[in-house]
Amino acid sequence: MTTLLIATRNAHKVGEIAAILGPAFRYLKVRGEDNLPAVVEDAPTFAGNAVKKAETIARALLLQSASRLPDAGEKFFVLADDSGLEVDALGGAPGVHSARFAAMDSGQEGNSPDTANNAKLLRLLADVPPPRRTARFRCVLALVEVDRAVPLLTPQLFEGACEGQIDLAPRGAGGFGYDPLFIPQGHSQSFAELGEDVKNGLSHRAKALAELRRWFASSHG
Ligand code: IMP
Repeated sequence: MTTLLIATRNAHKVGEIAAILGPAFRYLKVRGEDNLPAVVEDAPTFAGNAVKKAETIARALLLQSASRLPDAGEKFFVLADDSGLEVDALGGAPGVHSARFAAMDSGQEGNSPDTANNAKLLRLLADVPPPRRTARFRCVLALVEVDRAVPLLTPQLFEGACEGQIDLAPRGAGGFGYDPLFIPQGHSQSFAELGEDVKNGLSHRAKALAELRRWFASSHG
């Protein structure tokens, strides 16, 4: 069986990836005791940040005493997800800054609470009427094989986007991030109201993971 180490500390992303891909893979999470380096997500694109996360973690695993590396003959990959929201009326913001959107105002380091990011988004869109509140989630996945016998190969990239609208107020309790504000095209409820099964059937992450599944199915893995 192929093992994927999901290179994120975002438990929601791990849950969605495992739920979407299902039992075809074995999943490992990043644990505190792995002492893996923190990755500074300063690339200007989702792809750049996804590659940076996947390569940094893969390299660190190869350098470590490799307690988490599988036995010879088993396939082992690091999978990184960089994603975010692009709002047309804001020229594509928050984009790669989605996780730290609110904190950027005060020059603070680190991610902001989801409620603060959502409040800032609503404030910036206060005068924008519904027809112009179009937006999309984007997800770029970077997949890199970890194998002691070969140097680190160029990551494979898989991308997905999900079109929708930003609502006038947050609604629903499911999901994470901007889910309470995002109404996917063809629906009248937010991702947070629609729930995990519906979201995982049409999200940006689901589309990128469908590409990844096709890549493995065409026997690359
Ligand atoms: P990063 O990929 O860890 O840099 O952060 C992605 C940020 O984009 C998250 O913290 C969320 O704010 C937002 N985001 C990405 N995917 C989703 C999603 O599926 N739902 C809601 N927000 C998301």
